[in-house]
Amino acid sequence: MNEQRPPPGPLYHDFAWLGMPTAQLPGIYARNQQAKAPVLAAYVLTAFARLRCRGHGEISFAELFCADGFYALLAAHFGAARSTGYDDDREGHLANAERMRDLLGLHQASFRRTRIEDVPPQERADVVANVGGLYHVDDPEAVLDLSYRMANHYLIVQTVVSLAREEADYFERPAPGLSWGNRFSRASFDRMIRGRGWHIVDTLFNTLDGNPRPEDRGSLYYLIEK
Ligand SMILES: C[S@@+](CC[C@H](N)C(=O)[O-])C[C@H]1O[C@@H](n2cnc3c(N)ncnc32)[C@H](O)[C@@H]1O
Repeated sequence: MNEQRPPPGPLYHDFAWLGMPTAQLPGIYARNQQAKAPVLAAYVLTAFARLRCRGHGEISFAELFCADGFYALLAAHFGAARSTGYDDDREGHLANAERMRDLLGLHQASFRRTRIEDVPPQERADVVANVGGLYHVDDPEAVLDLSYRMANHYLIVQTVVSLAREEADYFERPAPGLSWGNRFSRASFDRMIRGRGWHIVDTLFNTLDGNPRPEDRGSLYYLIEK
């Protein structure tokens, strides 16, 4: 299956879970992957299991804000017939997504360089993962709604929330101490997403222990069924 070339590196993610350990960027990356990956992998596989138990055949998957495509490739590894990662490549990880796709032999995966805000409305997938990106954008509610419209059956959401603020109406843009992005508190993001009336199958919360500032440490997860 694997071509005889060494994996690129260091990468945003360690691809050991996909059978190919890779050197990882220093700093925040390993600890934050340890927090996020078990929850997100569980949600991807839960969505796939629920679709399969309903007799759904080929499953398509999309990862928004995909960076090196770890979750798009994880979905392909676990049976997605088509998996597409979207990223505007402002952090320069997208070439590694294609290299890992080729090394892992997961040719049902592809990657598109685009702002998520510009993804056309006809793009759809059975399971959409909007993970690691809502806190980057100027209008997180618009991008959340875009991702819900994009999903045929399941939407997985993950975002960073502040542990320094608890107000149920907290929203700050740009994010505190930064010139970009935004922040919710755990309570205000939860209120915003529940206010949409969507069917939340599961939600979890943990901390991104790689991030030193409390403003960047909370991590909220949702599995939403349409
Ligand atoms: C924190 S990484 C997320 C990686 C992965 N999805 C995860 O959760 O581990 C965020 C990625 O979003 C991309 N990004 C930020 N703003 C974007 C936008 N408006 N449109 C597309 N990509 C964007 C960056 O290039 C970066 O690769």
